Amino acid sequence: MERKPMLPAVEKFVADMRETCETVEGDEKWVRCRELLLDLLKDPDLQAHAQDWPVGGFDGKKVDNLLFYEDPDHGFVINGLIKNPGGLAVPHDHGSAWTVYGVLAGGERIVQMTPGENGFEQGEASECGPGDVDIVPPWRIHAEYAGGEKTIAVIVRSQRSGTFEQYRHNDDGTKTLFPGPNQVPYALS
Ligand SMILES: [Fe+2]
Repeated sequence: MERKPMLPAVEKFVADMRETCETVEGDEKWVRCRELLLDLLKDPDLQAHAQDWPVGGFDGKKVDNLLFYEDPDHGFVINGLIKNPGGLAVPHDHGSAWTVYGVLAGGERIVQMTPGENGFEQGEASECGPGDVDIVPPWRIHAEYAGGEKTIAVIVRSQRSGTFEQYRHNDDGTKTLFPGPNQVPYALS
């Protein structure tokens, strides 16, 4: 299908990521994806474009992700996520999907959560600021805390949200299936 070209740095990212999918086996491809995304975040055109991205809405069930690109052959997607200061996400996983989370502006703390005697205990945390990229492997339970400024993130997922099951993890040890973020098509051109 014809599609409109995106920003040159994003087209390069897509070409490199497609090549990675074709030549790199298994989990290593997400390590490579992280390196590619680290480079992409440095692009001034992308940084300028991101100033106009809308803050994600909330319809009572799901938050919005901007959907910039979905690969027709390999299934990976490029999302944008803009959060107002102080937002948080309760413990959840991303199902079978890999998530490579890059921060353009603002910051976020991603904390691994482990089940304990009385609900969840905080494990290893990673602090992401502008230019940083974090990898969330499949099924890892984590919480997310936005910093004191608006956060703008570019996220690469191995599959589009909505095409796989993911869960919220409750304090009583149960888990609840939840729909992933709404996918709102947005032109990155
Ligand atoms: Fe998450």
